[in-house]
Amino acid sequence: MIASRSSPLPKKSTQFGDLMRGALQTDGLALLPPMDALNCLTLVKTAGIRAQAVILDPWYNKGFGGVRDDYDVFILTLLAEAATVGDHVFLWGFPEIVARYVERIPKPLQLVAWLTWYYKNNPSVIRGWRSSQNACLHLSHPGAQLYPEHFLNDVQLQKQREGKLRYIPGPTSVIEDSLLVGFVGRNEQTGHPAQKPVGVFDKLIRMTTREGDLVIDPMCGSGTAGEAAQRLNRRAILADVSEEYIQMVERRLELPRLGSKAASRPKSQRRPSRTAEPVQHSLL
Ligand SMILES: C[S@@+](CC[C@H](N)C(=O)[O-])C[C@H]1O[C@@H](n2cnc3c(N)ncnc32)[C@H](O)[C@@H]1O
Repeated sequence: MIASRSSPLPKKSTQFGDLMRGALQTDGLALLPPMDALNCLTLVKTAGIRAQAVILDPWYNKGFGGVRDDYDVFILTLLAEAATVGDHVFLWGFPEIVARYVERIPKPLQLVAWLTWYYKNNPSVIRGWRSSQNACLHLSHPGAQLYPEHFLNDVQLQKQREGKLRYIPGPTSVIEDSLLVGFVGRNEQTGHPAQKPVGVFDKLIRMTTREGDLVIDPMCGSGTAGEAAQRLNRRAILADVSEEYIQMVERRLELPRLGSKAASRPKSQRRPSRTAEPVQHSLL
């Protein structure tokens, strides 16, 4: 059963369609003010905007971020809503959490792949198994386009041009990248307690989009999806429920939220600011 919406849409919600479109045209990125992920998806849908990929990276329902009694309903509603605006939908979480949804994928979505992010460098000293993986369900509408050719190296590309490539080897479903802790990825660290490496989202985006395509991350945290999209010349709409994290994205991407005074200024007149406070990673 799908839950009804828990919080109302932001006031003046109709204006966000035009604002999103304008920002996507000028900056390639649109950052919404703090709001619930479901509201973000509704705004996008109401505006008639369609994305090639939607990334859902919620809190994990254990440890950091707390536990929601309605977590299953929340996730299944998010998946159903994401399906109305995107061709591909990625759902992140611990394996034992996302496993629950494999048999309950809302139609018309279907499972494309079970992906794993493998990180060796969890320094936890807890006795027992040291967690070193996050899971991601890659779901899509039937027939949604995949781009394994985006992962070909120069030699393979040359062979392809010569008509000598017999098949296109896609990327592995296990993505290896270090956890952003301590000195690892120091330049990338923002201070968000669950920040994923750009390299991980890079693969999801390259597999499902072409240049100019649109990615939506309605629970964007520090804005990793925006950074990955920007580097790959894709566009992105970002949102998060937290004021603190929206400010973090504003600093990281030098991207004022829609509707703010700064957003109405040309990009060249915006003040850059980048700070990263040391933080305990939530996957530890
Ligand atoms: C695991 S973190 C995302 C990390 C992000 N992918 C990154 O690399 O920085 C989960 C995020 O979901 C946000 N969040 C939790 N519940 C939400 C909701 N109902 N609507 C929107 N955002 C939500 C949290 O504020 C948090 O930033």
